[in-house]
Amino acid sequence: MVILAAGQGTRMKSSLPKVLHPLAGRPLLAHVLDTAIALEAAGCHIVHGHGADAVRAWCESSYRTTTPLSWVLQERQLGTAHAVLQAMPKIPDDATVLVAYGDVPLIRPETLRELICAAGTGAALLTAVLDEPFGYGRILRDRRGAIVGIVEERDASEKQRAIREVNTGFMVAPAKRLKSWLARIDDKNEKREFYLTDFVRLALKDKVKVTPLATASPEEVLGVNDRAQLAQQERAYQRAKADKLMRDGLNLADPARFDLRGTLKHGRDCSLDVGVVVEGDVELGDNVTVGPYVILRNARLGDGTKIDAHSVLDFVDTGRDCRIGPFARIRPETRLGDSVHIGNFVEVKKSTLGPGAKANHLAYVGDATIGARVNVGAGVITVNYDGAHKHPTVVGDDAFIGSDTQLVAPVKVGDGATVGAGSTITRDVPPGVLAICRAREQKVIPGWQRPTKKK
Ligand code: UD1
Ligand code: CA
Repeated sequence: MVILAAGQGTRMKSSLPKVLHPLAGRPLLAHVLDTAIALEAAGCHIVHGHGADAVRAWCESSYRTTTPLSWVLQERQLGTAHAVLQAMPKIPDDATVLVAYGDVPLIRPETLRELICAAGTGAALLTAVLDEPFGYGRILRDRRGAIVGIVEERDASEKQRAIREVNTGFMVAPAKRLKSWLARIDDKNEKREFYLTDFVRLALKDKVKVTPLATASPEEVLGVNDRAQLAQQERAYQRAKADKLMRDGLNLADPARFDLRGTLKHGRDCSLDVGVVVEGDVELGDNVTVGPYVILRNARLGDGTKIDAHSVLDFVDTGRDCRIGPFARIRPETRLGDSVHIGNFVEVKKSTLGPGAKANHLAYVGDATIGARVNVGAGVITVNYDGAHKHPTVVGDDAFIGSDTQLVAPVKVGDGATVGAGSTITRDVPPGVLAICRAREQKVIPGWQRPTKKK
């Protein structure tokens, strides 16, 4: 299989190579590679050129596969035929070659399998009938319906432009034949490029049949050439995912306002309000409710948990019946026991909260182990950073941390201890005691006159 990914993507007007633009949170190329790998082809040759280093670096650092990928450099982007030609030395003569475009991300493996079957020992071309064929190569057929050529939009006559059947770019051919056709393709066209589409004409000359296969679902063959098409493809992808999730029993307040950029598993009767963004791997138990505009990234939420509006959860694991938000931020490596409450403007990082613990308003809990049923008052801060190192805070079960307390880590508060509001705790607090650390007496000045502005 040959994947063409060397083009600049001029119409994107971007310094990022086109195939690295994300769809559903992953580069276009990742989607095409997923399909290629599902096909279990004998070789997967990626033709890269524009932004070659970036494309390869992304793939090597972020794309996980056990399938070996072969990299083919197309130093100058002289056209799609020239691109395929660069890969041919690596492909044996007796192979069957499938060509895919890196900018057509939603193609399904089943469709390509059909295309390979359709080719038999000859060639095959995947076509689509589009309501808006603008920008695509048009399929030319003779009176009996046989394919006689493909004409690119810019080379097409007025009459040819009216044709709605387009070239999707996906084609299959015997390697030996393809090699000979590629060697014969010239650049005598408006763009002065070597067009892969010219293979059809040469196949006819050589009396090799080119079987057309028209896809039943045109959405899967739409190319991404500009940002409008990218956005359109994104919506098509999201809509398909949303429909599937709803069929599986997930409640979505509005499938048009839901974004999945990873995987989502869910139990029964889960409900997502508008604007929820799911990233990475997210797992919901039964009866989980997620409020509007929540971001869930690599989260596992226990049965009955409720996340309120505008909360951001990142690498979090919760027990059952937790209440989080609105406006909560939970950062990586956080584990919440059953029935934990995290309220508005509370940030939790790399911490564990025991069952029934509560931090309802305006707190920072970082590098902390908080026991069961602990009450973390409003404005409590774990002072975990001394400018060089992070230090842990440990709070025992049933402790009560009064509002506006600073727990200067490393520090421990024992089981059942109470810390008075406004304290700065710098030493360990034994179990069961009251620790309080603030000015002992409140000063009262009777008849106090507030300063006034001079006239
Ligand atoms: C191409 C087809 C057109 C088809 C459309 C389907 C040709 C000449 N035209 O047009 O018939 O309807 O795709 O989406 O084939 N690339 C390289 N090296 C190059 C040029 C391109 O690797 O020298 C890669 C691009 O990165 C891209 C793909 O080939 O992934 C297609 O190139 P693009 O310029 O987007 O072709 P289209 O104008 O879309
Ligand atoms: Ca294209």
